[in-house]
Amino acid sequence: MAAPRRGIQKKFDKNALKTLPILLKYLFKYYKWRMILVFFLLTLVTVSTVAAGIFLPIIIDTITYTEPGSKAVLIHTWPEIKDQVIMLGTILASIYLTGILSSIGYSVTMAFVGQGFLERLRIDLFNKMESLPISYFDRTPHGDIMSRYTNDVDAIRQFVTQTLLQAYQAFLTIIFVVSMMIFYSVWLALIAFLGVFVALVIIKHVGGNSAKYFMKQQVSTGKVEGYIEEMMNGQKVVKVFNHEEESKAAFDIINEELNNDAYKANYYGNILMPILNNFGNLLYILIAIVGIIFYFFDIWNLSLGRLFTDIYSIVNIGVVVAFLGMTKQFTQTIANVSQQMSMIAMAMAGANRLFDLMNQESEVDNGYVTLVRCNIDENGNITETNERTHKWAWKYVHKSTGELEYRELKGDILLDNVDFGYFEDKLVLHNIEIYAHPGQQIALVGATGAGKTTITNLINRFYDIADGKVRYDGININKIKKDDLRRSLGIVLQETSLFTGTVMENIRYGRLDATDEEVYEAAKIANAYDFITRLPNGFNTMLTHNGSNLSQGQRQLIAIARAACADAPVMILDEATSSIDTRTEALVQRGMDKLMEGRTTFVIAHRLSTVRNSDCIMVLDQGRIIERGTHEDLIAKKGTYYQLYTGAFELE
Ligand SMILES: Nc1ncnc2c1ncn2[C@@H]1O[C@H](COP(=O)(O)OP(=O)(O)OP(=O)(O)O)[C@@H](O)[C@H]1O
Ligand SMILES: [Mg+2]
Repeated sequence: MAAPRRGIQKKFDKNALKTLPILLKYLFKYYKWRMILVFFLLTLVTVSTVAAGIFLPIIIDTITYTEPGSKAVLIHTWPEIKDQVIMLGTILASIYLTGILSSIGYSVTMAFVGQGFLERLRIDLFNKMESLPISYFDRTPHGDIMSRYTNDVDAIRQFVTQTLLQAYQAFLTIIFVVSMMIFYSVWLALIAFLGVFVALVIIKHVGGNSAKYFMKQQVSTGKVEGYIEEMMNGQKVVKVFNHEEESKAAFDIINEELNNDAYKANYYGNILMPILNNFGNLLYILIAIVGIIFYFFDIWNLSLGRLFTDIYSIVNIGVVVAFLGMTKQFTQTIANVSQQMSMIAMAMAGANRLFDLMNQESEVDNGYVTLVRCNIDENGNITETNERTHKWAWKYVHKSTGELEYRELKGDILLDNVDFGYFEDKLVLHNIEIYAHPGQQIALVGATGAGKTTITNLINRFYDIADGKVRYDGININKIKKDDLRRSLGIVLQETSLFTGTVMENIRYGRLDATDEEVYEAAKIANAYDFITRLPNGFNTMLTHNGSNLSQGQRQLIAIARAACADAPVMILDEATSSIDTRTEALVQRGMDKLMEGRTTFVIAHRLSTVRNSDCIMVLDQGRIIERGTHEDLIAKKGTYYQLYTGAFELE
């Protein structure tokens, strides 16, 4: 599945903004002092950029003067103003220098914080993902989880490294400019505000449309990507059924949809800036005209500046010039922020999805019984050891007395009256009773969907049971730490998963400290040794794409070798040999018999010949055990198993 880009599908709603403080808190948790430094430096940068506007009237007022009763602007002689000009020049130069240095400072700090923060996010996300229960992955599309690492993290990167800083700068600029405008002339400021109000209405309309189609474009992109990926995966099926033409036609439709959305998104997005810029120019001219009128007609000016100096009791030429600069800055800032709106929407939606995953409940583990290797002397005394003695013991500390107790791991597994459903309202297993005594081989057979894999999912605690008990050597498995429980089980899952890496590494995945010899030994047990040595690089052959350079059966053999390598006291083999030819299967069977010796084993197989020798065969039908016994018992009974075995009838 392609990443569906759900984060972007969401409209920009007010709720999304609630995520902002959470995201900032998260950012500050890791980079508090650096972020404070960044914001401090940014403030200096902003001050230095607005400083020109603030100083302009002062500079003009220093250089020029008017005779009383005249509007003619006269210029002072150099000796009259020399000292002031040098002083102002020095102040401005220092401000700009501070601005440049702060700018370098915050860029360097931000490069560090930005990348570091993303790394942290991905680490936290991955750690959380590893702790989630299997049920989370059942209900969440995997592409959707993937997209949190890519699209959503990327949206947050844009936001943290650019949008957030620009928004802060814009906020400061607007505060400065607005204060200065009111300082110089309230009436002129009001005209500027009115203009900005109209600009905001334009942004809401045009920018809103742009954002809408921009989000639609992301959805369509997701669809196109998803379709391409699906068609790539299903290429063989498409060809087998001659569906090339239909598949092209379906592609054309969604591709056209994408084109349409992209066109409109860009259309509205592209016209917004020119509209706002031209509007800014209009406002500029308006302020110039009104300012000059104020100046010539000496209209009484309302300004905060009057409180401090007489100069600003009228609109003088310095104020008009400064206002023009400030108006430009004001409209520019607003245009810039408007461009950032969709970025903010995307980032918030992305952060929402990220925190949704991070707030999921992790797999709970209240277990306190652990698994240790041990030695057992002739009196049955158990001592813990690090050596590979092929003996294991459960170790637990008595809560009341604090006393250590060891119990030998025998492999006695009991399912007592177990009910289970993946969803609360729909039971998949009913009243399951299984007694697996130490060293026994228990077979689970039955039709597709009967519940065989589900039973093994309960033993390794991928899911927790609704009712009943599962006991392992008499211990309720809820009391056993999950890691230790799973370590005691050598499992071949129904779906083979191999990782990118060499064959050697894949087999060693079963037990990371296995020596090369032990890996070869495991491969021999699984009867995989011969074919592996015939691969181009033998055990060092790289596997990619879940081992797509191997045949289905070869992949299964490696999965069996991996379980053999784990050397665990109890084995669970789910359809382990389903893709292997009967001759190889017989060979594997021999190896496995050795592996199963003295180990409790659960075997699931559709090919009934494989389970003939089991100590007990459970026949499942629709989540219930309907028959149980040895092969001979069940044949003699002439029930469902007999019919299955003789091919007379299929289970429903
Ligand atoms: N992750 C899941 N979420 C919800 N329902 C599930 C899940 N896995 C299996 N089921 C349902 O549980 C029932 C038993 O499935 P299970 O995988 O145990 O069958 P099975 O006996 O192993 O079949 P097969 O021989 O095809 O492997 C089925 O009806 C199936 O639809
Ligand atoms: Mg199954």
